[in-house]
Amino acid sequence: MTKISVIGSGYVGLTTALGLVGDSRQIVCIDRDEQRVSIINQGKSPFYEPEFEDNLTRFSENPGRFRASTDYSHITDSDIVFICVGTPAAENGRIDLTDVHACAVMTGQQLAASGRKPVIVVRSTVVPGTTQEIVLPAIEKSSGKKAGTDFSLASNPEFLQEGKALRSFREPDKIIIGEYDRNAGDVLEDLYRDYHAPVIRTTTAAAEMIKYASNSFLAAKISFINEIGNICKKMDVDVYEVADAIGLDPRIGRKFLNAGIGFGGSCLPKDLQALIHRAEELDYTPLLLRSVLDTNINQARHLIELVHRKSGGLNGKTVTVLGIAFKPGTDDFRQAPAIAIINALLADGATVKVYDPLVKQGSCFEGSQVVVWCDGVEEAIDNSDCVIIATEWEEFRDPLLYAGKTVFDGRRALDPARAREVCRYYEGISW
Ligand code: UGA
Repeated sequence: MTKISVIGSGYVGLTTALGLVGDSRQIVCIDRDEQRVSIINQGKSPFYEPEFEDNLTRFSENPGRFRASTDYSHITDSDIVFICVGTPAAENGRIDLTDVHACAVMTGQQLAASGRKPVIVVRSTVVPGTTQEIVLPAIEKSSGKKAGTDFSLASNPEFLQEGKALRSFREPDKIIIGEYDRNAGDVLEDLYRDYHAPVIRTTTAAAEMIKYASNSFLAAKISFINEIGNICKKMDVDVYEVADAIGLDPRIGRKFLNAGIGFGGSCLPKDLQALIHRAEELDYTPLLLRSVLDTNINQARHLIELVHRKSGGLNGKTVTVLGIAFKPGTDDFRQAPAIAIINALLADGATVKVYDPLVKQGSCFEGSQVVVWCDGVEEAIDNSDCVIIATEWEEFRDPLLYAGKTVFDGRRALDPARAREVCRYYEGISW
């Protein structure tokens, strides 16, 4: 029986824990949040993610194999400990490693009392160098033990996409193992032996960098096509036709070339900022990465400008925003372009009617008198001066919903030709 502790029950931790459940494994999710632990042990998910609730309901029936706890002493008899705590952005985009450091200290304290030689794995997204320069010394100091001898250490970044987190875990395109010592790499390679994906064993810093480079590249692809889209629009060229064509080149690929109001979420913007900040600390100015971020911020502003141009001022107007989540399939609205758009509309004096299939009243804009939460698309669209589509949820895609309406499409949710026939006025952000 392999005993695995997973510290941190957010997207990364819970996906890792649920993904690793197996006959010969005993999994404990450790989290300091008592409420979260209790929710998980009741077989419920603390946040929306497809498959989570089904799996948690099933697994919670067998607490010997899977359970959550606030008790860090489970680490003492663990064979593998995954560190999956949050790494939020601090000032200027710098990564805040407070929780990762605290987690390393607590893991070390438990290790001091342990007769085992566990593999400790950093799975949180951390800037290159963190595992070796921050986690390793923190564990060694608090445990009095030596990395590579008394415990093993690795960096094993995740590449999950929210909305399909467990699928991303089960069908990875690669498994990245940054090993401080050989044993750490061997144990992790064995843990993932059933996944049909290339395994790359490298240094801890390279593994950490692979994660940042991956998210930065995806962000760059999006900002690239958004910039091309903004130019296309001025030339009356359809950027989606361009994306479809250039995407046929296998060196380019079609994915992540959907122009729109830009990327949000808890990963792409934060990771990009953290890498920029780290590069600047190292006395390098990452011009391209900065532009990727700036272009992204400009997209939401660009949409507001289009709305202004058409409506001649927003003071006293009612604007509908469809979609708050940073993408369909999630209730996560962290760094969502919709939030920036709604804030800009409110600052301009508009009343904003909002609807999202999963993001509900009480989650954001609490207490605002000028944000009107609606229960459905029709209710949201009714009696408003114009509609902004900010997330491409399936239920927003029927052009007939918008008959006679003024629509600004931030996500190419509608077929422009059809929408132009049906709507009173239709304009896409880059088309
Ligand atoms: C992202 C990466 O895609 C994952 O590989 C990575 O593991 C994860 O971050 C992480 O670091 O944990 P995620 O944040 O779930 O995953 O979201 P994405 O699917 O990447 O979408 C990010 C944003 O880009 C969304 O707002 C989406 O609407 C936008 N986007 C995506 C576009 O504007 N255009 C596109 O063509 C694709």
